[in-house]
Amino acid sequence: MSLDIRHYDHHQAAGLRPLLIDLYAEIYQQAAETDPFATVDRFAQGLDGWSSRPGWTCTVGYDHAYDMQPVGYAYGAPLPENARWWGGLLTPVDPAVTEESGQRTYALSELMVRPPWRKTGAARQLHDALLTHRPEERATLLVDQNHPKVRALYESWGWTVLGDLRPRIENAPLFHAMLLPLR
Ligand SMILES: CC(C)(COP(=O)(O)OP(=O)(O)OC[C@H]1O[C@@H](n2cnc3c(N)ncnc32)[C@H](O)[C@@H]1OP(=O)(O)O)[C@@H](O)C(=O)NCCC(=O)NCCS
Repeated sequence: MSLDIRHYDHHQAAGLRPLLIDLYAEIYQQAAETDPFATVDRFAQGLDGWSSRPGWTCTVGYDHAYDMQPVGYAYGAPLPENARWWGGLLTPVDPAVTEESGQRTYALSELMVRPPWRKTGAARQLHDALLTHRPEERATLLVDQNHPKVRALYESWGWTVLGDLRPRIENAPLFHAMLLPLR
């Protein structure tokens, strides 16, 4: 598989939006049938919020061998000062751990790959391309506690669990908040 990974920022978000939503709808179709947090509408709302931040960045993979079909993507943005991200943290931690300056932590909000490209290394490439050369000291992500295999996958990529977190958003599941040192 020869993956072409392209980088985007918030200036390109509007043009990229239909592609990101189409891929989400395909990848989360089954999940959305039972999980109100996985609906396309909720995702689109989240995408619009994230991609309107000036620091939003996104990597999309295209497969050369298959007419440059999009295979998946990752996106995120740096956390601002007093980030709402940590507002749902349920595990007590030293307040210094969740202190944000705007330049400290990059939040990986989404990572998804279409089924034919799973277990090919595409997910790892999208993840690495998004996070390599970031100036922040660390990255954070949330993984659903009902998906232990995904948590294990992230642990195999160097992530560690900080604690339990439930975002203050309707229907949000319980997540593991994870951290990855970037330097
Ligand atoms: C997460 C993802 C990008 C990883 O891709 P990958 O590196 O190729 O790894 P895999 O697809 O083999 O996933 C690793 C394991 O997690 C499981 N898994 C992946 N996504 C899952 C999900 N949403 N729910 C439950 N299990 C999941 C896989 O079935 C696999 O288990 P297996 O080894 O027993 O087959 C890809 O599985 C994906 O797009 N999943 C759907 C979207 C998603 O859940 N994104 C993560 C949000 S935190």
